[in-house]
Amino acid sequence: MANHYHGLAPFKGLELLQSFNDSEPGRFARLLPELPPLYVNPLTLHKIGEANGVMEDRGLPNLSKTVELGLIFFGQFIDHDITLDDSSSLSSNNVPSKVDNVRTPTLDLDSVYGEGPEASPYLYKDGLYLLTGADYAGNFTDEQWLRLAAKDLPRNPLGTAIIGDPRNDENRVISQMQLGFLRFHNAVVDSLKDRPGAPTGSKLFEDARRVATWHYQWVVLNHFLRTICGDWIVDDILANGRKIYVPEYEADGDVEPFIPIEFATAAYRFGHSMIVEKFRVQQGEDQFPLFGDRYGNGFTPLPNLRAVVDWETLLDSGNGDFERAGQLDTKLASTLLNLPFLPAELPAFERSLATRNLLRAQSFLIPSGEQVANLMIQYGAKEITSEMIEHVSEAAKRLGDLDKGTPLWLYLLQEGQTIGRMNNDGKFERGEGLGPVGARFVAETIIGLMELDDRSFLGTNRNWSPMDSHDKLGPNGVTNLYDLLTFGDN
Ligand code: HEM
Repeated sequence: MANHYHGLAPFKGLELLQSFNDSEPGRFARLLPELPPLYVNPLTLHKIGEANGVMEDRGLPNLSKTVELGLIFFGQFIDHDITLDDSSSLSSNNVPSKVDNVRTPTLDLDSVYGEGPEASPYLYKDGLYLLTGADYAGNFTDEQWLRLAAKDLPRNPLGTAIIGDPRNDENRVISQMQLGFLRFHNAVVDSLKDRPGAPTGSKLFEDARRVATWHYQWVVLNHFLRTICGDWIVDDILANGRKIYVPEYEADGDVEPFIPIEFATAAYRFGHSMIVEKFRVQQGEDQFPLFGDRYGNGFTPLPNLRAVVDWETLLDSGNGDFERAGQLDTKLASTLLNLPFLPAELPAFERSLATRNLLRAQSFLIPSGEQVANLMIQYGAKEITSEMIEHVSEAAKRLGDLDKGTPLWLYLLQEGQTIGRMNNDGKFERGEGLGPVGARFVAETIIGLMELDDRSFLGTNRNWSPMDSHDKLGPNGVTNLYDLLTFGDN
């Protein structure tokens, strides 16, 4: 199973970084090359991230007051949409003229659509609909399997999910979220095809794909980023532009978006601190661990009907009764410090996701959080002050010997804990989301990826909204993640 998992390569970095550079503009590149790397003794990093150590969330978890747990898994889903690695089917595309384009990291749901009905026909029915487990249910005779398969992803006889990105079967929640997106697309096709003058065939598919993708992008911008980073930064970037994520023009006059390596190895890994040890997936049920008999161990078929995710439980359906995410702080759920899907013979430090994050970033020569924060001030980010940086830096020193600086990932977690997310009234709320440095890094990158994509709604029509009369879905429109994942139920 481990070889299914993304990112589980040895802790190398430089040679990968070189191959990610100019020759492959669509992938990873260094955003802040002017900053020197931070080097911390690896043994210090082992110690900071170890199970039972300073980062383990023991006893009662520190829960956020407002953030929906389902939104954090959506963060992982977004990650899989924009980061491509060796497991991505797109990486095997060998048509040189298309390579750059195909590899451009965009929020285009290629993790759901694969390479489209022509090139990935095994994902589709009639060239229009995405296959779900329900389409395979006829292959089963046993009554219970038939019922389970109908609520699961499409799978081959060995149980492997047949989906656009295999990583979206890594845990039960992301697996059910992938199913929610397949159903969403199918429901959009049904909704569009009944309209007067609706196109048919591939034109109908393309329309449905655009409408589904633009709704997803809307939710990323207005639900996910506004919750995790705060309205202030989303509004500031949309109105005043980006300050640090400013990819340069190429010789041909195009701007190529890329994933900053600082984002992939550090900043966007903030989500690891908001995953909780145990949670419910259905109303009235008990809480169970993310990995285990109840929800399965990752990359496995739905084990029982009680593992079917009821989105009302993980997201706010309007009644305020939903599972909360963990606080954004320097604590991680115990299971993440001893990852159950990794071989038991690995040394303990390699089984800890915290240590993996710290070593991975160090192998890619990532600068310290303090350096990134100071550079943002130079670039005109007025919301960051030297006092804040000192405050975060001092607090992080309690985690270990970090006199030379704080690794970026750790800095952003500490910033969430010590400073907190800025709310609309200008006050900060600790643990509820990213602090000023993290919020700018994450929001600028994700908004930038959309703005630089001339097929996204932000790159095409900034005035588009889910209330647009041509694209509106259902009587009230689909404006948040809960609406989107349950639209196909109606
Ligand atoms: C649900 C539980 C999750 C598990 C078990 C998990 C596990 C992992 C593992 C094992 C890696 C590779 C680590 C390495 O060797 O460098 C990784 C990478 C990463 N994770 Fe997670 N993760 C989870 C959730 C999340 C969430 C919620 C986010 C963000 C909101 C996130 C963002 C990332 C990013 C950006 C990377 C590196 C890029 C990539 O390869 O996709 N992860 N994760």
